[in-house]
Amino acid sequence: MTEVNANPLSLSGKVALITGATSGIGAQQARALSSAGASVVLVGRREDRLKELAEEIRDSGGEADYLGADLSDESHWQLVVDASLSFFGRVDILCNTAGVNLRQHADDVTPESWDLTLGLNLKVPFFLAQKLIPNMRERGWGKIINVASLQSERAFANGIAYGASKGGITQLTRAMAEAWSKDGVSCNAIAPGFFPTELTAPVFDNDEMSSKFANQTAIGRNGELSDLDGICVFLSSHASDYITGQTIYIDGGFTAK
Ligand SMILES: NC(=O)c1ccc[n+]([C@@H]2O[C@H](COP(=O)([O-])OP(=O)(O)OC[C@H]3O[C@@H](n4cnc5c(N)ncnc54)[C@H](OP(=O)(O)O)[C@@H]3O)[C@@H](O)[C@H]2O)c1
Repeated sequence: MTEVNANPLSLSGKVALITGATSGIGAQQARALSSAGASVVLVGRREDRLKELAEEIRDSGGEADYLGADLSDESHWQLVVDASLSFFGRVDILCNTAGVNLRQHADDVTPESWDLTLGLNLKVPFFLAQKLIPNMRERGWGKIINVASLQSERAFANGIAYGASKGGITQLTRAMAEAWSKDGVSCNAIAPGFFPTELTAPVFDNDEMSSKFANQTAIGRNGELSDLDGICVFLSSHASDYITGQTIYIDGGFTAK
């Protein structure tokens, strides 16, 4: 008889490192992955937020630890990797969620703002993954989840550097999948539509703009953070073991219209 995994979505016994866990999508991913059974390591610059979320997760019966780090500083990368491996002894799932969108007009982008955006949104996901791959290889299993965007496919106003980074993420995701899937590490990206977070405050603070984007979806509304729970657990779990190199749009049909 063919073997059946009775609970392929369970993350019990797995350890997830989530960057950008101080707010928005990263904090939601941490809650979702913890609810599915993973121990979570939270990373971002605002340590007070990380401490608060770690306590919330522990109070709900989960396991969480955290490390304050500025990922735009290369010297912090190894510290993050070493601390993450030491907290629970391994990392099975890497959620590369930290990101910035400086919303500058093309005329105003500087080499510094370009480097900050491309560095945090594109370079950090690759090098954190590269540093964690040896640990995942030891068990022949791992999951990397990058965060793409509508701007991976479409140009939006004031999105030159951000769009370049998110266009890059979809190709980086394919290339990471090509490099590491044979080791059992699958790499995929989620591409959220519009979700209310600190990063999208300029959209959600503007009723006209947020309604316009809601109307551009097939479903007729913008995203709620809980809309991401299922896909994040799925891509972190054995349920998605034969899916790699893909970017999955969670956009209410924005890109379908
Ligand atoms: N919200 C959306 O609709 C949407 C749509 C498509 C894609 N995304 C992507 O989703 C990801 C998360 O964004 P979000 O919407 O959840 O926005 P957010 O709430 O602003 O989250 C951004 C996260 O990145 C962290 N971060 C920023 N700079 C950092 C640095 N130098 N070092 C370490 N961490 C840093 C922030 O933490 P600290 O400030 O504490 O460091 C924060 O936790 C981003 O990659 C974004 O591009 C969002």
